[in-house]
Formats: sequence, C-alpha cells, structure tokens
Amino acid sequence: MAESTGNKKIKTAVFISGTGSNLNNLIQFSKKKKSPIFINLIISNNPKSKGLKFAKKFNIEKKIFYFKRKTFDEKKLLKVLKDRKINLICLAGFMRILSKNFIKNFKGKILNIHPSLLPKYKGLNTHKRVLKNKEKYTGCTVHFVSPKLDSGKIIMQRKIKIKNQDTSEKIAKRVLIQEHKLYPKAILKLFNL
Ligand code: GRF
Repeated sequence: MAESTGNKKIKTAVFISGTGSNLNNLIQFSKKKKSPIFINLIISNNPKSKGLKFAKKFNIEKKIFYFKRKTFDEKKLLKVLKDRKINLICLAGFMRILSKNFIKNFKGKILNIHPSLLPKYKGLNTHKRVLKNKEKYTGCTVHFVSPKLDSGKIIMQRKIKIKNQDTSEKIAKRVLIQEHKLYPKAILKLFNL
C-alpha cells in the first residue's frame, strides 16, 4: 500500500451505485486533518445514483461507466484512474463485480465495505439471511478486494446484536451507522495511523 507522506494525501476514487451515505461519510472524513485520503473522483455505474449529488455538493469530479461492455468500460476506467494518479479505490455500495485484470492493476489498493461479518454472508441480501438463520450478531466488514467476491483479506469489522423484534430494514439501519464508523477507522489502520 502506498505511503501517506507529509501533507500529500492519497488520491482516492470512490465507486458507488446507490444512495452514497458511505461516500458522504468518506468525504467528511477526508476533510479531517488526520485523514490520509483526498477524494479526487467519484465513479458510478448508474447515472441515477442518489450519491452523485455529493459530487456536485463537494465539487468532486464524477464519471459514469455503465459496465455493460465490461472489458471495454474497465479499460476506459483504468485510463481515467491512471491519468488522475489514483492510488486508492474505495468501493461503497458499488454493485458491479470488477474483473481479475482490473483488480490486478490496483493490487492491494481496492477496499470494499460489506454489510455482514465476513466470511459469513457474502453477496446480497445479507440481513434477510442473518435473520433466517437466527444469528445473534451481525455487522460490517472492510476488506481488500480480491477476484473472489467478498473474500479478500479482512481489515476491520464492527458487530451489532440482533434484537427480538428485528427486521432486515432495522438491521440495515443499525449496520449502516456502524459502517460509517468503520470505513474511516479501517483506512486509518491501513496507513498505520
Ligand atoms: C451499504 O450497506 C454497503 O455496505 C452495501 O451497500 C450499502 C450502500 O449504502 N454494500 P450507501 O450507498 O453507502 O448509502
């Protein structure tokens, strides 16, 4: 992983598909003095992502890549990232799977946040599955992205307790609060800060 030296912050791109609450949270974090990252670019596969409003609000460059022609789009995206000297990619609710080749180009520099205590509940609909299996706890994980879905090395996790009357919506809300605490902490840990 690149070093965060002096006052030169790590050029970071955040990839989103939806609401972008994690993006907003990372932007707030990036503005803090102690933060090693600067968010230079927002990527979305969906022009309707609500999170894109934060690009305008905080004057951050944004780009849409549909990933319909995956190899073609990834090639264009890689050029955009290299041109801007992006050195860290934070996936934040990004609903596309990146190819092995793409990941190889940013080895050890792509992070993801996942709403479960990995390695449990990889993939989608985590909270529904957690409830169905009558788990006592769930949570969220920040991990490195590897070619195998939600399987890269774990950086940090946060846990919540499942309550009797819980629904997947209620769990999602409580997990999201923890996600917002976790992502900045995991980034600090990554840079030994
Ligand atoms: C989060 O729960 C994240 O863990 C999952 O998708 C959700 C995105 O939320 N991968 P937001 O777009 O950051 O609000």
